[in-house]
Amino acid sequence: MSHDAIAVVDFGGQYAHLIATKIRRLHVLAEIRQPEDPTDAFRRYKGIILSGSPSLASFGEDSDYNKAIYDLDIPIFGFCFGHQEIAKRYGGTVAHGGREWGPADLRIVGESAIFRGLGPVERVWMSHFDSVTSVGPGFRELGITTLGDSSEPHRFAAIGHEGLRRWGVQFHPEVDDTVRGSEIIANFVFGVCGCTPSWTMERFVEERVERLRRQVGSRSVFLLASGGVDSTVAARLIGMAVGPGRLHLLHVDNGLMRKGESRAVADMLRGLGLGDRLHVADASDAFLAALAGLVEPEAKRAAIGNAFVEAFEREARALGIEAHLLGQGTIYPDTIETGGTRRSDTIKTHHNRVPAIEAMMAQGRVVEPIADLYKVEVRELGERLGIPRELLWRHPFPGPGLGVRLLCSTGREDRSGFEEIAPQVAAVAARFGASALPLPIRSVGVKADLRSYEHPVLVTGGLPWERRLELAAALFRDVPGVNRCLWNLGPRAPERIVPVAATVTRARLDVLREADHLVMDGLRRHGVHDRIWQCPTVLLPLEVDGAGREFVVLRPVHSERAMTATPAELPEALLRELRAQVLALPGVSGLGLDVTTKPPGTIEWE
Ligand code: XMP
Repeated sequence: MSHDAIAVVDFGGQYAHLIATKIRRLHVLAEIRQPEDPTDAFRRYKGIILSGSPSLASFGEDSDYNKAIYDLDIPIFGFCFGHQEIAKRYGGTVAHGGREWGPADLRIVGESAIFRGLGPVERVWMSHFDSVTSVGPGFRELGITTLGDSSEPHRFAAIGHEGLRRWGVQFHPEVDDTVRGSEIIANFVFGVCGCTPSWTMERFVEERVERLRRQVGSRSVFLLASGGVDSTVAARLIGMAVGPGRLHLLHVDNGLMRKGESRAVADMLRGLGLGDRLHVADASDAFLAALAGLVEPEAKRAAIGNAFVEAFEREARALGIEAHLLGQGTIYPDTIETGGTRRSDTIKTHHNRVPAIEAMMAQGRVVEPIADLYKVEVRELGERLGIPRELLWRHPFPGPGLGVRLLCSTGREDRSGFEEIAPQVAAVAARFGASALPLPIRSVGVKADLRSYEHPVLVTGGLPWERRLELAAALFRDVPGVNRCLWNLGPRAPERIVPVAATVTRARLDVLREADHLVMDGLRRHGVHDRIWQCPTVLLPLEVDGAGREFVVLRPVHSERAMTATPAELPEALLRELRAQVLALPGVSGLGLDVTTKPPGTIEWE
């Protein structure tokens, strides 16, 4: 059967693939195309969407793509960088500036095919450095955005030319935080391009099982099973394709797991009937040895990823499993954040995308049956494959585990740029009646599709939740060099916070494990666990007022696909309990609540 299809041109933005997924959820086939693909490759599509990019349109970066697509009589819709490219192509201008991250209000101007059925003002999601400053002949301004009360209106946030069938929006309709983004995409796919919906999850399963059979052939698969949703669903799918006899599972206890986690995972996999060929390996000594002395986040991630490959090879040899492929439950964000598509930036290297694994992939030795899905789709697929709900709705836990939640430091103060940052941070906080300090360490974030490694800010003050979020948004907008906002849950505003020398050790991991256990237990008891996406607990090597060695951070977030996230509000009673319990842990002197959206932060700190 041939399907109506939309082409998504991947300029390397963090969300290009998400656009394709959102279209497939409308039961319309969407395919990713490269910007330099020949014009003929585009002729069969009913519409073209141009994605965002880590490049800057104002500087003419990435401008050598195939522009002949604009001569095709096919509707084209650009998002972010794509929007700027459409503006420039048809006589408009783009300037560097007007950067925005996170939520904004879109005021819709006049009638247009892409905004049909939407209200006069809609909540949208921004992440950009450049802005459209004028449009060419025949183009109309279709929307203007504002971020909170204090910002200048952002003109030309949506533009279009109904005759040419060309539209652009500065925001990202594909992310879940653009509340009616799917309707905007549906208006384009159905209303403008006239697609007929014919693409379903049943077809996905049939096609995937068939593809796995061809790929595995007569070999066997040795699958790394963390006990999380992704590897469990991957195991089920591979089992369906090759039969249980040729699927072996390896659970590696890397010493970076939660309290009691490895035992619980083994029990769960046995309960699912996957126990016959399950091997559990305690490799915690090897992982700790690989991490000894490391501080830099990407170096830690590389060490953890390599230790997984070594554990895998060692166990395969010990068990005498031959002619095997490495099975992994990799999902799409792992690939895109690792810079795994041609033009994307490396935000962070996921454990299943380290060079040793990429080398095995190049040799055709890796099977990843769900590598183009997002978590919500994996969960939907898992339900279809009969995996119990409580397993499917577990919080995601990263492959490198607590290793990326235990920040390390040489102990040297990192105050570069503080002369400028500190007064700006204090001024923004003062506008809200709070006080704030930049912290002398860094954490990983993502801004306009690029990795950032910048300072968090610690704010102290008794503001209601919504005001905290507004303060955080104002900080990100007004102060360059800041990518995270922490709310102080300690008893008073600290006078002095200094980094302490710290690396990954069993003793520190035990402190973090204990804090994490208190948090997870509290979330369950207060009925919050199932209402949020995830709540990492993070340990920072910071000493507060000379009182102790560590600072604990709670990072509760709402998300659907982990490509964007919003901070989740926790009940006051839970925060009170955690304040008492966590601050009583030996060696802990501070507690903070992360109120950062993604972007400009990421969910994990490293
Ligand atoms: P970030 O921190 O990039 O995380 O916003 C997005 C989601 O991915 C999880 N995560 C990982 N998962 N291997 C994984 O399997 C990894 O290396 C990894 N790093 C982050 C993270 O917990 C969140 O759900």
